[in-house]
Amino acid sequence: MTEQFPSYRGQMEYVCLGCGARYPIDELLYTCPSCGGVFLLEDTTFETLKDHDGGYWRTLFDERASTRNTALRGIFRFYELMAPVLEQEDILYLGEGNTPIVDGAPELQKFLGVSFAFKNDGQNPSASFKDRGMACAYSYLRALVRKHGWDEVLTICASTGDTSAAAALYGAYVGHPIKTAVLLPEGKVTPQQLSQPLGSGATVLEIPGVFDDCMKVVELLAERYRVALLNSKNSWRILGQESYAYEVAQWFNWDLSGKALFVPVGNAGNITAVMSGLIKLHRLGIISELPRLFGVQSEHADPVWRYYSTPASMRKYEPVQVRPSVAQAAMIGNPVSFPRVRTLVDVYESAGGTFGVVQVTEQEIMDATIAANRHGHIACTQGGECLAGLIRARELGLIASDEKAVLDSTAHALKFIGFQNMYFTNTFPQEYEITPDAALANTPVSVMSAAEKAQLSAEEFTGRAAKAVADRLKLAGK
Ligand code: F0G
Repeated sequence: MTEQFPSYRGQMEYVCLGCGARYPIDELLYTCPSCGGVFLLEDTTFETLKDHDGGYWRTLFDERASTRNTALRGIFRFYELMAPVLEQEDILYLGEGNTPIVDGAPELQKFLGVSFAFKNDGQNPSASFKDRGMACAYSYLRALVRKHGWDEVLTICASTGDTSAAAALYGAYVGHPIKTAVLLPEGKVTPQQLSQPLGSGATVLEIPGVFDDCMKVVELLAERYRVALLNSKNSWRILGQESYAYEVAQWFNWDLSGKALFVPVGNAGNITAVMSGLIKLHRLGIISELPRLFGVQSEHADPVWRYYSTPASMRKYEPVQVRPSVAQAAMIGNPVSFPRVRTLVDVYESAGGTFGVVQVTEQEIMDATIAANRHGHIACTQGGECLAGLIRARELGLIASDEKAVLDSTAHALKFIGFQNMYFTNTFPQEYEITPDAALANTPVSVMSAAEKAQLSAEEFTGRAAKAVADRLKLAGK
């Protein structure tokens, strides 16, 4: 049955986390015009959703899981909780969301002595979780274009690779009047990630430096020129990414007691969204208990860990200078969404949830990534970072033995495959501080040279090659 599009419409406003000022959503704002603070979007009629109990919402969202209405198939299945101001005609659906949660391979769970599952967000259309936020941000942009009748809109973002891939993909799909440009730190985006905006036809610009440098440039551009900024400073992105939390809750039948969620932290948009989504579920009684939430950072890019590992009375936020990291997509020294995290952690904790950040080494990230993927997972290095974070949390006594961890593998393993290659060939530049386990090195083995093949007839070749393979594998005859 094609489900009717929901009739509920909220009233959304930008709320500045710096000075509390509120602004209407009829234009795209990124920072507060009066104090420069970051925004969160708030539905001021959210409380009226409480007219229905948690059970009503659980049933509704479960029923929508089988809808044939494309506007509700992806992240907008949770329409009322996210951006309930969009019309059906504006909603974009490229197959994002509904990513699987795959239990940790039994052998690996046993070996590590921890219970966990990966949520494979790399199985989104552009192979990362960014598609969730981009589907929402572009849907809103389409609504604006329709309302204002704009005939040219240039979107821009700074990126460690995945935001640009998602922005370019959705921009290309929407087409006129959207044009997409992305700004990347030269040499600090993997070749696979770089190929994505190029393939989607975006204008790809590079500057020397790291992500933090690119971010400053696009912020200045957004201040001075008519561009639509698609970084997570754009709060519509955060709303879309909340769908991750809704999906985790739904997967576990809306019971998150005894669960611990691990999320890699870079620009801190994702952890903001996950926390915000969980808070909404809890406020509406859709879940009765908040799970434990952990951010994970590499010691090469750890400003959020530094903040939260300091006793509360002495905390002072300071950006850090990043060093090369295999969790390259999260290699960010001055996360734009840090003020959002700080605000939401207070709300989360006062609602009974616990929040923590763990720090891991580059060696641990890489070892965990390799271990996961040798056990049939498709974890990117940020997913491996989550597994390393879980192991660390266990060591620190932060996880109970009967607790189950849900690890966010934020992108597909193939996007970061160059790091696996460096591991197998022992070619990490020294700054990474990674020594591969030589026993795990895996490289292709040639069983016959081209020159040898050239000497043989087609039949001889098949026979010889089969014999060479059988010898290599020490196969027994039958
Ligand atoms: N994992 C992946 C695969 C990412 O691409 C990112 C961020 C993160 C984790 C960290 O998430 O920034 O929300 O805390 N990538 C951004 C980008 C910065 O430009 O693609 P975050």
